[in-house]
Amino acid sequence: MKPSILVEIPQENTKSYPIYISKEPIRDLAKRLNDISSSRRRLVVISKKVYKLYKNEFDFSQEELFILNDGEHQKNMNNYLKIVQKAIELGLSRKDLIIAIGGGVVGDLAGFVAATYMRGIDFIQVPTTLLSFVDSSVGGKTGLDLPNAKNYIGAFYQPKTVFINLNFILTLDKKQMLSGYGEILKYAFIELSCKCEKTHLLIEFLSIAADRILDNNMNLIERLVRICLDMKISVVQKDETEGGLRKVLNFGHTYGHALETITHYRKYTHGEAVVYGMMLAFDYALRTKMINQTYYNLAYDLFKKYGFKPIKPVKYNHDKLINIMKYDKKANNGRITMILPDKKGSVTEVEITNETLFEM
Ligand code: GLY
Repeated sequence: MKPSILVEIPQENTKSYPIYISKEPIRDLAKRLNDISSSRRRLVVISKKVYKLYKNEFDFSQEELFILNDGEHQKNMNNYLKIVQKAIELGLSRKDLIIAIGGGVVGDLAGFVAATYMRGIDFIQVPTTLLSFVDSSVGGKTGLDLPNAKNYIGAFYQPKTVFINLNFILTLDKKQMLSGYGEILKYAFIELSCKCEKTHLLIEFLSIAADRILDNNMNLIERLVRICLDMKISVVQKDETEGGLRKVLNFGHTYGHALETITHYRKYTHGEAVVYGMMLAFDYALRTKMINQTYYNLAYDLFKKYGFKPIKPVKYNHDKLINIMKYDKKANNGRITMILPDKKGSVTEVEITNETLFEM
């Protein structure tokens, strides 16, 4: 199979890797994973849900498996240590391999084990959710959450290969699809800022094709995945470690992360939280006249089309939220910086004064 896309990291070519996008039967994907790891020991970290659904297709031996319970709250230090322990028990050496099969939580956590185990061993991403297809499996962000700070421990560590099999979509529930649409909407609102060679007009595409996309039209979903990845790769290739440009990918994430943290990573999916973060950013940008009412309405129409209702930020204690946001990695000396919309499809970084953030 020829790679669908290549991620090229210009500063360090050994970090470049292929992404394969396919609709082949999961059994064929399993064979590919067996071939790639035939002469190496491997540890497979797999989401419990995915394991239950596909265990017959994947014929892994019990001893090479670490089955991770589902939910963002599993992306913690305790599970990190358990996975490392499992790698030690399997006798994994630096020449061996970790395979992550699941959504963003599995990919982030297994990736961070790979980044740190013996100072780094190869890992392969097999994303199984819409969100991980379009965002988290590519770009090399790995890590785990602390109780009071999301993704605070982590590393930029690129996978060796990403296998995106679109068939996993067929067994996702509504909540997981919604989470994926959250990140996809983000890409629509940051398109110009991603500096892609091609113009995708993602806002228009999402708007015109909403009914067919929401009906799981596979061709349209594949097109969406390719568009979002084109944007993500354009950014990552220019700024792998978030010195500047990559910050645009954090649109909606400062407040989104605070919401996830304040609810102990149990109430919102990541994509949902990002949508609420984008809503707050649109509200703030309208209030401070960074954008006009027409663009604001267009954004809220799109949120609604994809099933998101506005959340009232007053629901949670503002001081607590502000405090969490100050700990966000994107904060600067205790000052909150946020990525805000400044025109259609474009965002910019702005420093926020705490007092004005939740003004209505
Ligand atoms: N999910 C944001 C990033 O990869 O930078």
